[in-house]
Amino acid sequence: MGKDVIIACDFAGKAQALDFLSRFTDTKPYVKIGMELFYAEGPEIVREIKKRGHKVFLDLKLHDIPNTVKKSMSVLSALDVDMVNLHASGTVAMMQAALEGLTRADGTRPLLIAVTQLTSTSEERMKSDLLINQPLEKVVSHYALCAKSAGLDGVVCSPLESEGVHSVCGKSFLTVTPGVRFADGNIGDQVRVTTPQKAKELGSDYIVVGRPITAADDPVAAYLRCVSEFTD
Ligand code: C5P
Repeated sequence: MGKDVIIACDFAGKAQALDFLSRFTDTKPYVKIGMELFYAEGPEIVREIKKRGHKVFLDLKLHDIPNTVKKSMSVLSALDVDMVNLHASGTVAMMQAALEGLTRADGTRPLLIAVTQLTSTSEERMKSDLLINQPLEKVVSHYALCAKSAGLDGVVCSPLESEGVHSVCGKSFLTVTPGVRFADGNIGDQVRVTTPQKAKELGSDYIVVGRPITAADDPVAAYLRCVSEFTD
């Protein structure tokens, strides 16, 4: 399971997203649909991209009371997505409820991944705004362990946190990692970045790559470069 490149399809609407994906004729990349595209186009965009043969990671980061998350996950599961996520800070009870809601009548379900601490949250902010007085790395590992104990499949984290997560949760617990840039590419607004090759060395199971592919002159070539650096 795992070791794949997921393209973050951060487009404002259906036309741009489908136009982008239509460039891929020989391969059908794994695609991440985030809040922007989902809120603009609704479930239909998921059905359309699935119909075209792509796997879909629906990145909606649910966080609510367990009953609401359970029912919402059941709706998302019916869309036949391959991976969904939620915030581990919603508690183990919420994560267990999510898993129940996600499991289909035949026992199958999409992978369920937890966001630990967003990579945009600094240790300083976590202390001052969230009143969490522990080192960030410890919080990430603890949230990952909570996700594992709830029965989840893995976490979203920085590639730089993959090793730590695997050491406390085991190698088969998935790490899905954004913040990836080519060695000769633009960093943009990301701060802690690694190359696909480095993410592979650090043990990432899936890398999530947006602009290095979507904004490239030749997105298909950029995607194939990513796949070869990450998986070869
Ligand atoms: O364009 P770029 O490669 O920076 O895109 C990264 C994707 O991963 C975006 O969709 C971003 O929202 C998402 N993401 C992230 N950092 C996180 C969680 C998600 O960059 N901690």
